[in-house]
Amino acid sequence: MSDKASSSDINSVLIENRQFPPSGEFASRARIQADDMAALHRKAEEDYEGFWADLAREHIQWSKPFSNVLDDSNAPHYQWFNDGEMNVSANCIDKHLADKAGKHAIIFEGEQGDIQKITYQQLHDMVCQFANGLKAKGIKKGDRVIIYMPMAPEAVVAMQACARIGAIHSVVFGGFSAESLRDRIEDAGAVMLITADGGHRGGGIVELKQAADKALQSGCDTLKNVVVLKRTGHEVNMQAGRDHWWYDVIDGQPTECEPEMVNAEHPLFLLYTSGSTGKPKGIQHSSAGYLLNAVITNLWVFDLQDEDIFWCTADVGWITGHTYVAYGPLAAGGTVVMYEGAPVVPDAGRFWKICEQHKVTVFYTAPTAIRALMKFGDDFPNSYDLSRIRLLGTVGEPINPEAWMWYHRVIGKERCPIVDTWWQTETGANMIAPIPGVVATKPGSCTLPLPGIMADVVNEDGESITEANTGGYLVIKKPFPSQLRTIWGDDQRFRDTYFPKFDGKYYLAGDSARKDEDGYFWIMGRIDDVVNISGHRLGTMEVESALVAHPRVVEAAVVSRPHEVKGEAIVAFVICQGERPTGDEAEQMEQELRNWVGEQIGSIAKPEEIRFADGLPKTRSGKIMRRLLRAIARGEDITQDTSTLENENVVLQLQGKA
Ligand code: WTA
Repeated sequence: MSDKASSSDINSVLIENRQFPPSGEFASRARIQADDMAALHRKAEEDYEGFWADLAREHIQWSKPFSNVLDDSNAPHYQWFNDGEMNVSANCIDKHLADKAGKHAIIFEGEQGDIQKITYQQLHDMVCQFANGLKAKGIKKGDRVIIYMPMAPEAVVAMQACARIGAIHSVVFGGFSAESLRDRIEDAGAVMLITADGGHRGGGIVELKQAADKALQSGCDTLKNVVVLKRTGHEVNMQAGRDHWWYDVIDGQPTECEPEMVNAEHPLFLLYTSGSTGKPKGIQHSSAGYLLNAVITNLWVFDLQDEDIFWCTADVGWITGHTYVAYGPLAAGGTVVMYEGAPVVPDAGRFWKICEQHKVTVFYTAPTAIRALMKFGDDFPNSYDLSRIRLLGTVGEPINPEAWMWYHRVIGKERCPIVDTWWQTETGANMIAPIPGVVATKPGSCTLPLPGIMADVVNEDGESITEANTGGYLVIKKPFPSQLRTIWGDDQRFRDTYFPKFDGKYYLAGDSARKDEDGYFWIMGRIDDVVNISGHRLGTMEVESALVAHPRVVEAAVVSRPHEVKGEAIVAFVICQGERPTGDEAEQMEQELRNWVGEQIGSIAKPEEIRFADGLPKTRSGKIMRRLLRAIARGEDITQDTSTLENENVVLQLQGKA
């Protein structure tokens, strides 16, 4: 198809709000047919608890069956199946040994091309050995273990091993800095850190152990042991007594480890994510409730079938890598692909090469990756055989129609449904997403809530907005099994953040949304100070705190502006001590501050642009005029009244006009 034809396609999408019904070929083989979907919705409407109880009995193996379904006696700390016992690792691995021991659980490819295929039996043995090794190092049920690893199978092994013995893991994305790692170790009160000598990324090495050493230089008093996977083989510092090589930890350990049966509500993991304050929050997930939504969404939304090869490109450092790499697909008995490196190494065909080579059938990635790869043109994907792909997915941010159409046309060859999945770290699993064999899709819409997910768009008073295309708060009106249980160590912040309105009845997602005339959901953006950079969540306050921690910075305000590939990019307005930096000095200062933020948080948080002024525009009551700053960052005309500003000149300075 020529470029011209594709741009007219895009126009028609915009004008006609085109619908894409599932192709007959896909629909005829899909797990969930129209009748099934209708029955699920009906059951959820008529008997909400019965609906979840049936699913929990069908999809989870219990060592002690539950009789309680939903316990709301301590709302909004809802509990599910809380008199039942089970183990997540047994559900992801042992459950399949009878009939799938020789099936591949994980197909791994390193950035340098090394390949490792791991069967369910081998995964079982690796997880058991490592779990025994953890126990030998004194790790017990309830202990917090930080995992700071590259995308390697051992990252999943470490997560599963923690789950097996009831330890609570918290994975920290390898792109986060030493400072961020230290904050998380301290907040979680972790006793162990599992890391690696490094990982291969972008042709270089990510120095994970070096960052870990830096993090442990001060504080982190609870931390006793560090386990280090040898991945790159380059030299790292090992501190005697504290640091242990992974191979020594598993040396001589048996390949059997009885899973520790835990209460359904036992915390499976903490995952830190950004919010409205300067401090990331430890989202706490349960065992059974989390796993339930993880499994059913792999079956319903990704239509995972026995012969599928599922590749979710997310890093295990994010929730997507938890639910659609480390837990959900395994619980569903699937085969997952893991890739260590960057999508453009050695060239922009790497993803498509992996799809061809490992015969990927279901592919799930973020719009930012699609946009980045789209820029390299159609030749890369066209030179690989993508004919096995039957389903595509996106997550993390709204997808623009142009990227959607490219994905549909060039990757999906106009045959594959695209599931645009809305959800959050806090919801644990897909909430609003099409069931691909049934629900017609519209580019840019995550379509309809899944059965049992009572999502809605409401006004300030919590009333459902019935008028089509009118924006409001995105809420979920009933508790669901995989929702976060609390913020680690901060119940009050949990209540204030997620249940601040509507008498605490509805879960407030923090997004605004609208529904169209067909009831389809369109996510409009965050209502809090959270920005989405390349599909990664960041709090503007976090970046502001990092900036003001620099000795020369007096005050900082951070906003975002749209970015072609990243979705959003950060623009920071900074006031320095002494003279306002200009010219070369401003350039140097900008570079220094970008690096500084990289060290404080991680590279993803580096501002795209920094502007200096003598002051920030504030209202009479002293509030920073963020709307004005956003307009300046976007180069828009200023429509706000600035006559009340103490120093009108700062607006000109921030615009670069003075
Ligand atoms: C945004 C990622 C539009 C949204 C799983 C949400 C989306 C935040 C979509 C959660 C989507 C996620 N369409 N926006 N399909 N999926 N978002 O916690 O703003 O990293 O609140 O979880 O990403 O980001 P998080």
